[in-house]
Amino acid sequence: MSAPLRNYLEFYRDLGIAELFVDPPPAGEAAPAPAPADSADPAGQLQVIQNDIGDCTRCRLHKGRHSIVFGSGNPLAKVVFVGEGPGADEDAQGLPFVGRAGQLLTRMIEKTCAKEGLPVRRNDVYICNVVKCRPPDNRAPEKDEMEICGRFLERQLQAIAPKAVCVLGGTAAKALLRTTAGITKLRGNWQRWGDIPVMPTFHPSYLLRAYNAEAKRLAWEDLKKLFHLAYD
Ligand code: SF4
Ligand code: URA
Repeated sequence: MSAPLRNYLEFYRDLGIAELFVDPPPAGEAAPAPAPADSADPAGQLQVIQNDIGDCTRCRLHKGRHSIVFGSGNPLAKVVFVGEGPGADEDAQGLPFVGRAGQLLTRMIEKTCAKEGLPVRRNDVYICNVVKCRPPDNRAPEKDEMEICGRFLERQLQAIAPKAVCVLGGTAAKALLRTTAGITKLRGNWQRWGDIPVMPTFHPSYLLRAYNAEAKRLAWEDLKKLFHLAYD
């Protein structure tokens, strides 16, 4: 590092500013070109994406949100789970899949892996959604909202470059895979997003409904395939 650059960074550090952040663009203005990110630094790349989202007003979902739910977990994850969008609990806490469906998802991940002899806990994977702001009244996100916010999802997947992705439910599957096929048809069958294998399965909210014992068994089969592809 050159002496002037070191002095410059030390100057900011002495002021108590550990990192220099890019301000989000004001509403209606074109976003600046993304800062060049180190392709060997997924955590840094995720931070750049989160900074670019900023206090986002790019779609109408910003109006009703309390927090932007960016994603959580390991930036070096081998497996990424993609849901539809935050619910009330997620919006309140700013974290994905922390409500009832999220607790089921956590149990499904950890129980499947324990039974299969794989040392995987929820914190080892990465979890996010197609849209980062809660749709009002828990409605499904609309096509334009998923297209606008989906750009951030795609950048998250490029940054993490996992061995496999699991899309949860028909809405997320349609958004990522650009297909019109329903989840009953897609689930259990490997799809691709670019070079990355994608396993579609049922959304945990659907599995929470009592009459879905058979769907739960199928989802368990799907997760087994997912984790074995990523960890074997
Ligand atoms: Fe921005 Fe995505 Fe929230 Fe829409 S859903 S306001 S695009 S962060
Ligand atoms: N449902 C989703 O699709 N995502 C969440 O984060 C929570 C519930």
